[in-house]
Amino acid sequence: MSNLKGTSITWLGHSFVHVQTQVGTSILIDPFMEQNPAFPKGYAMPDKVDAILVTHGHFDHIADAMPLAKKYDAMVVAIFEVAAWLESKGVEKTVGMNIGGSFRFKDVVATMVEARHSSAMNDGDKVIYGGEPAGFVLTVDSGPTLYHSGDTTVFSDMKLIHYLYAPEVAMLPIGGHYTMGPKEAALAANYLGVNSVLPIHYGTFPPLTGTPKQLETYLKGTGIEVVMVNAGETLR
Ligand code: NI
Ligand code: MN
Repeated sequence: MSNLKGTSITWLGHSFVHVQTQVGTSILIDPFMEQNPAFPKGYAMPDKVDAILVTHGHFDHIADAMPLAKKYDAMVVAIFEVAAWLESKGVEKTVGMNIGGSFRFKDVVATMVEARHSSAMNDGDKVIYGGEPAGFVLTVDSGPTLYHSGDTTVFSDMKLIHYLYAPEVAMLPIGGHYTMGPKEAALAANYLGVNSVLPIHYGTFPPLTGTPKQLETYLKGTGIEVVMVNAGETLR
């Protein structure tokens, strides 16, 4: 595992991740708790959350953004259309941004980067356009640089993410069906030039059949480590 220099990463099942920096900045990405079959039962959520990052509008990434924003009085960072929708639903602190932009929060710079997917919110019986899907690069002042791709397949411009931000750890979906699977994720890890991959978005629902073991097989000989953790475990 890469040296996280005091930052911790806790995988909470599916694409839901808690990142905490050395100085205590506490960030949730793609909060999915109540209806998340992979959320670790009985897990004690952090006392404090400063910011919630949402990669796109699909329910399995946004479902708990509203209740958790309220509970923690946290700001929600998302692409313009998603942020505007959350605001219309009563989320008080939203930051709407777009691909290529960066937002500094305490010791973390969150940069929104592209993803190859779709994005929409279910709102009663309507489906609301959610703008472009996104990923986030988190550049922590004291290190490390992390990348959470959101839902995506591999795309060759992941090389740009490497050139521009040089993330050390990538959180990549590997389940397949709605996102890339292990084969594509292995190429993504190579394009990104990361040391470690934390596999996400697999096993939660029956169609998400890709496994970390398969990813490991595809990455054999590259020196890129697949981090094997159970939901609720923390990497330090
Ligand atoms: Ni999605
Ligand atoms: Mn998803």
